[in-house]
Amino acid sequence: MSSTLFAHGEHGGPDGSGRSSGPNESAFGSPRIGPVHTIAVIGVGYVGLPTAATLAHLGHRVTCGDADPAKVAVLQQGHVPIVEEHLEDLVREGQAAGNLSFVVGATAAIQGAEFVFLCVPTPQGDDGSADLSYVEAVAAEISPHLAAGTVIVNKSTVPVGSTLVVERVLGRTDIQVVSNPEFLREGTAVPDSLHPERIVVGGDDQAAAARVGELFAGTQAPLLITDAATAETIKYASNAFLATKLSFVNAVASLCEAVGADVRDVILGLGYDRRIGFEYLKPGPGWGGSCLPKDTRALVHIAEQAGYDFSFLKGAIATNEEQFERVVTKVRTAVAPTLAAGTDGGGDFTGAVVAVWGLTFKAGTDDLRNSPAVEIALRVAEGGAEVRAYDPTVKVPEGARSVPVPGFDVVDGDGSLLAYPDAYTACLGASAVVVLTEWDEFRWLDFTKVHDALAAPVFVDARNLLDPAQVRRLGFSYEGIGRR
Ligand code: UDX
Repeated sequence: MSSTLFAHGEHGGPDGSGRSSGPNESAFGSPRIGPVHTIAVIGVGYVGLPTAATLAHLGHRVTCGDADPAKVAVLQQGHVPIVEEHLEDLVREGQAAGNLSFVVGATAAIQGAEFVFLCVPTPQGDDGSADLSYVEAVAAEISPHLAAGTVIVNKSTVPVGSTLVVERVLGRTDIQVVSNPEFLREGTAVPDSLHPERIVVGGDDQAAAARVGELFAGTQAPLLITDAATAETIKYASNAFLATKLSFVNAVASLCEAVGADVRDVILGLGYDRRIGFEYLKPGPGWGGSCLPKDTRALVHIAEQAGYDFSFLKGAIATNEEQFERVVTKVRTAVAPTLAAGTDGGGDFTGAVVAVWGLTFKAGTDDLRNSPAVEIALRVAEGGAEVRAYDPTVKVPEGARSVPVPGFDVVDGDGSLLAYPDAYTACLGASAVVVLTEWDEFRWLDFTKVHDALAAPVFVDARNLLDPAQVRRLGFSYEGIGRR
């Protein structure tokens, strides 16, 4: 089946009128208004909530349904339970305009809806495949209550072929199912949703797919209409490409270390080539988060099921695993002089106190899921170190010296992983400080105070966040990723 690509902007809005929004002034800009539709969004997590708030901003009437009554209550008060810049303002704007509301449960949310967006989690199953059980459960629950002609929109990241699975679970010939993959990033979810680089809608009923595309006409983004399997593949291929690019640059950083080159300048030399570009070329502790690790594994699995060995992508995943271990080795080398002074030689890190700056999988989010920072901190702790971590999103109650990082127990070794209230306290008595998340505030600390707090002035900077010359001048030893 061929696909269709056109720019929303070129059409001047969904009704072709090209009129602007007039009275719909907003801190987020004024979208073009087309026909207003009634929409349900099921699941208000990192994807569902920005999607719902964006659709409300575009002028639609949006009701969100979530199974968690506590989360719904918080949202009804206009509070957003996750760290996501501008999202609370956008949600409040939608509520104030009467376009955005929150209810408990999927069935309550779909009353009167012409479109139902499924934004529930698709966690990784034991074999690497995506677990569709939440998607299937919602489809089964809402099926008897859907009005004829409703379009179901799959936004959850689901394996190729899932549109058909949802159709089968619904068991209704009068309901269309389309795939509309999400490309937003945590931390920049609001600008990514309001100004997407493309809208992809795939469905075997092209008219239904086009109707879903029209919902986003106010974003002015190019719209690509495809069949369902193609849309689902675009999502996985995009994330697999980004993961591969990151593994590539991390491998180049390792090469730089081996040959004595500086990766920062190598990246400049690469990025000016517009075919390569500068995006996604920052070396780091490895890539993580709720999407890239899960989606790359799922794509390997999907390919395997279809009889194709995606060995190239397996290589990118293996390089990422190596990257975690390379950082752990850097930490081990950094603290080795202190270990020699007085340990029993038990685990690799026994007796070491290691400070860690950053636990989230990247800056701008409070998400610890599949965080390389947590993975590396745990490996060091499991080696026997006392890891003292600070992350601006992991709160330590006033008066407490430290708290366990929620959800992460150290299972091996005699080490520990505790969160401290600030970056300086985490450094007290530590033999090294390891930068694992690129929070901007780490660049502006009082490094003399950090020097005084540490037992040994050693930086392992897994984000290349600091200026090596500056910290070396202050008496620190410095080890980055691929840097001289
Ligand atoms: C990703 C995709 O970017 C997004 O399009 C998709 O919808 C969901 O998955 P997200 O999980 O929010 O978004 O994270 P992203 O910003 O892509 O970062 C992924 C990982 O790569 C993080 O661990 C991040 O620290 C790392 N990264 C990113 C780098 O190490 N260097 C870079 O230059 C960019």
